[in-house]
Amino acid sequence: MVRSASPILVTGGAGFIGSNFVLHWIAQSKGRIINLDLLTYAGNLGNLATIEGNPDHIFVRGDICDRELVDRLLMEHRPGAIVHFAAETHVDRSILGPAAFLRTNMEGTFHLLEAARTYIAALDGEAKAAFRFLHVSTDEVYGTLGPDDPAFHEHTAFAPNSPYAASKAASDHLVRAWVHTYNLPSLITNCSNNYGPLQFPEKLLPLMINNALGGKPLPVYGDGRQVRDWLFVGDHCRAIETVLEKGKPGETYNVGGGNQQANIDVVHMLCDLLDELVPDSPHRPHRQLIRFVEDRPGHDRRYAIDARKLERELGWRAQETFASGLRKTVQWYLANRAWMDEVTSGAYQNWVHANYGHRGEEKSAPTTAGAR
Ligand code: NAD
Ligand code: TYD
Repeated sequence: MVRSASPILVTGGAGFIGSNFVLHWIAQSKGRIINLDLLTYAGNLGNLATIEGNPDHIFVRGDICDRELVDRLLMEHRPGAIVHFAAETHVDRSILGPAAFLRTNMEGTFHLLEAARTYIAALDGEAKAAFRFLHVSTDEVYGTLGPDDPAFHEHTAFAPNSPYAASKAASDHLVRAWVHTYNLPSLITNCSNNYGPLQFPEKLLPLMINNALGGKPLPVYGDGRQVRDWLFVGDHCRAIETVLEKGKPGETYNVGGGNQQANIDVVHMLCDLLDELVPDSPHRPHRQLIRFVEDRPGHDRRYAIDARKLERELGWRAQETFASGLRKTVQWYLANRAWMDEVTSGAYQNWVHANYGHRGEEKSAPTTAGAR
């Protein structure tokens, strides 16, 4: 691996994907990282414990909306790239409280773009040509698919349905506009659902793992037939690295594993895996814990990503199958129960009450709920 002469500025590097990316970068000795993260409920320095004291990792607690701070970090560290992960990311939270999503995802991205524009204006020709702003985004900007629709490609029209998706779509549009108006050398990646180590247990897989290990109900929204296209987080990190190093400024790249699964099938696979990996669990068979609960308002029915551009043009390929990635993920959570205990203490319980308290439950799948 080639060590980069310039450091990179990563935002949101204490969250799920950001911390996996930071660990991946440092493990390969690719260079110095300035990690700017506000440490919201989703950010956790414990995710980075294995690189504590490593001089290649400089952590700064701060807000991407703090323009003065961002300007100062750029001037002080002179990064060759910004990799922008920081966001509010959970659809259910965006339904209960959208304001934070507009602030961080839209306004925060705007401040970063403006700071980057000012910073590169003062760079010399070579450094200016080499600089990259990589905006990490989601497939949710494209809206929802019917069962037979083709997968989202880079030219699929945006049709966001949740406040989260709308705020990310807005941020993607800002990046696009800064490319066209100001020639900012930016790249956008739109990735499908990630899973893997260090994911906060508000998202489907870690929530189900945590509940199953504790013998708590496994709350499946609606009829459980919503489809997501799952990608192992390590594959996403390699995709970001590839786009950063080989992507063409101004381009968008879709990232996905070609792994479409209905939620209920994912939960069944997970329960069976837990039966196998925790043979002495008093909660076996774990499928008995499944409960169908009231659906998410506006729940997108299906996401699927066409990642052929990234594969064809930049040579990236997902390495994990869903079976291998899921096994690695469950094994990680089993080996890191202290991590789970730490992140589920305190305010997490309030979230569980706010999101699940009112939903009620049915033991068998409802026949109409969630169909769109
Ligand atoms: P996450 O919620 O786990 O982490 C977000 C991080 O951003 C946290 O560390 C948090 O402290 C930080 N943060 C939030 N607001 C901030 C602010 N104002 N200033 C600085 N830091 C702030 O998110 P994730 O799942 O790791 O997602 C990372 C990025 O990838 C997001 O942009 C998300 O939209 C995108 N994405 C996620 C998925 C997925 O399945 N998780 C899929 C595709 C794209
Ligand atoms: P999630 O992990 O929140 O990701 P996203 O909404 O960004 O796709 O949810 C993945 C799928 O799992 C989604 O269709 C909603 C569903 N889901 C449940 O059925 N129960 C739950 O408790 C959660 C958190 C999600």
